[in-house]
Amino acid sequence: GSRDAPANRTELDAKRDKDMAEYIVRRLNTDGICVVDNFLEEPVGESILEEVKGLREEGVFSDGQLVNQAAADTARNIRGDIITWVEGKEANCRRIGHLVSRMDTIIMKCNSKLGKCKINGRTKAMVACYPGGGSRYIRHVDNPNGDGRCVTCIYYLNKNWDVRKNGGLLRIFPQGRDEVADIEPRFNRLLFFWSDRRNPHEVQEAFATRYAITVWYFDAEERARAMERSRNSIGNS
Ligand code: OGA
Ligand code: OGA
Ligand code: MN
Repeated sequence: GSRDAPANRTELDAKRDKDMAEYIVRRLNTDGICVVDNFLEEPVGESILEEVKGLREEGVFSDGQLVNQAAADTARNIRGDIITWVEGKEANCRRIGHLVSRMDTIIMKCNSKLGKCKINGRTKAMVACYPGGGSRYIRHVDNPNGDGRCVTCIYYLNKNWDVRKNGGLLRIFPQGRDEVADIEPRFNRLLFFWSDRRNPHEVQEAFATRYAITVWYFDAEERARAMERSRNSIGNS
C-alpha cells in the first residue's frame, strides 16, 4: 500500500481519533451538538456498564442530601436521577477511568478549534442513573451563569433502548432555532454539546433504568473568572 497509509494498530487508532476530533470540531462549531456512535470497542463499553452496575449494587448512588420529605419530592420531580461522582482511579472505577481518559484524549485533539473555548480541565465523572418509574430531568441549562464549564460530554450505556417503550429521550432546544434535537441514550454513544445557554435540554421521563456518564470540560478563562468571583464573594461575606 501507500507509504502514507497507517501501518499498524497504534497508527490506525491515532488516525481514527484524529478523524473523530475533526468531526466533533465541525459539528460543535456548526450545530453546537455532536453525536459519536460506537465510541469504544463493544467489550470495553460492556465492561464499563458492568462497573456502573457494580457501583449501583454497592449503593453508592445518592439522590442528594435533602432531609425534608416534601423538599425531596419536589427535587425529585425536577431531577429524578441518582448520581455518584467518580475520579476514575478508585479500585472499583478503573473502567470509568479508562473512558474518561479516552474522552480527554479526543477533546484535547479538538482543543484550540472549539470556538473561543480553551479547555484546561474538567470535572470528575458524574455517573447518573435514572431508575425508571418516570424519572426525568426538567428543561435546564447546565451552565447558565458562566461557572467555567464549556462542553458537556455524555457517554450512554443503555443496550436495546427503545424510546417508545422506555422514554428517557434527551431533547435539546438549541437557542434561536425552531427544531429540537432528540438524542436516544444508546449504548456506546458519546455526545458533546456546548454547556451554556445555547443548549437548554431535558431528559424525558424514563421507564427503565437509564445509565450515563458525564464530564464537563472547563474553559480556562471563564473558569479562572468564576474562581476569582467566588474567592471575592467568600472574602466579602
Ligand atoms: C444532566 C443532563 C442528560 C442526559 O445531567 O445535566 O442533562 O441525557 N443529562 O443524561
Ligand atoms: C437561559 C435559560 C432556559 C430555557 O437561557 O438563561 O435558563 O429552558 N434558559 O431556555
Ligand atoms: Mn444537563
